[in-house]
Amino acid sequence: MKNFVYSVPTKVYFGENQLKNLHTEIAAFGKKVLLTYGGGSIKKSGLYDAVKAELDKAGMTVFELSGIEPNPRISSVRKGAELCKKEGIDVLLAVGGGSTIDATKWMAAGACVDHDPWEFFSRWAPVERALPVVSVLTLAATGSEMNGGGVISNPKTQDKIGRVESILRPKVSFLDPTATYSVSRYQTACGSADIFSHILEVYFAPDKGLDMVDGFMESMLRSVVKYAPIAMAEPCNYEARANLMWESSWAINGFVAAGKSHAWSCHPMEHELSAIYDITHGLGLAILTPRWMKHCLSEKTVGRFAQYAVNVFGVNADMPPMDAAIEGIKRTEKFLFETLGLDDTFTKVGIGEENLALMANKACGGGVLPAFVPLSAQDIESIFRACL
Ligand code: NZQ
Ligand code: ZN
Repeated sequence: MKNFVYSVPTKVYFGENQLKNLHTEIAAFGKKVLLTYGGGSIKKSGLYDAVKAELDKAGMTVFELSGIEPNPRISSVRKGAELCKKEGIDVLLAVGGGSTIDATKWMAAGACVDHDPWEFFSRWAPVERALPVVSVLTLAATGSEMNGGGVISNPKTQDKIGRVESILRPKVSFLDPTATYSVSRYQTACGSADIFSHILEVYFAPDKGLDMVDGFMESMLRSVVKYAPIAMAEPCNYEARANLMWESSWAINGFVAAGKSHAWSCHPMEHELSAIYDITHGLGLAILTPRWMKHCLSEKTVGRFAQYAVNVFGVNADMPPMDAAIEGIKRTEKFLFETLGLDDTFTKVGIGEENLALMANKACGGGVLPAFVPLSAQDIESIFRACL
């Protein structure tokens, strides 16, 4: 196990009615709040009114920025950063899924600099200061509610770039599973595929001797397999929504990745798909995952795949390791495409051959991704081709 620093200073209020603590928490950061949200789901669900009531109770002056897109655009970040500067905002309150929370984090950073926020991505401009961000999560998926990550799209350059900065972690996050009751079957499936992938990106690692976190990850993977279909069939099943919500946070808050150091595989590939085709993140990951697994399976990696098959999908441990590994990949496909009902090819989601080489080259930065199985542009293109 490699050395690491683990620090997750996000205060989490988990459970039904925890929003009643919002007024106390938000007031601690000042008087002027920028309330950010997406395309209106929070108005339909009634969450908007509940949040506004809390802000009134806290005596806050409220400014609003709505319309944050799925795969959030740099234009929204620019608008938010400008508004913060103009109005002297003290704290940002993101109410939504990963897109809203991600964009809000970069508004908070953009508010503290004189340059265009895209420079955080184009030239990795330093992030030395940021306004505080509080989040109210409405979709279990990205883990943005408890990490410093934020992924932003720039349609002009056809880039979608993620960056992690500790200073951007939400100070406080409200995780009420009932706020996800209104999430559609499709978004529940995509969110679950995303959580599943966050764990796989870390689980499939060359490191040995990490039994404690391996067990934790296997248990989370089993739990996603168990609860995602329940949440899809019964949207108001509290237990299912609660498990998925807490898994969303723990899959990617730094805990399972501590002590490991390899790069991720499916995420850099998927970000290129969303950058050009604007597809839902979890859907892109679902299509890629089994193809990436097949690409990685070899005599060298078979042990890890067999362990995954046995401990996550209950494949017979007495099978020869290669057979067990292949069965584990089949069960993964079954889970993603049959149970979750997600499309299983690029063709079905409108991705053709036209940009495969370009996207492959961008995904590995023109070099080799130092992942579980290192991936060159050629490797990535062949994974993409297998998805067509
Ligand atoms: O915009 P609204 O109207 O709110 O509707 C959203 C949106 O259409 C809807 N939705 C959210 N909560 C809902 C709801 N609809 C009904 N009821 C609710 N309670 O769902 C749609 C998708 O929302 P979005 O926020 O885009 O989804 P998600 O949470 O999956 O976020 C995806 C974004 O996060 C990035 C992805 O790349 C993508 O841009 N990621 C962020 C990460 C991070 N910060 O660490 C890591 C991830 O790997 C990921 O890359
Ligand atoms: Zn993801």
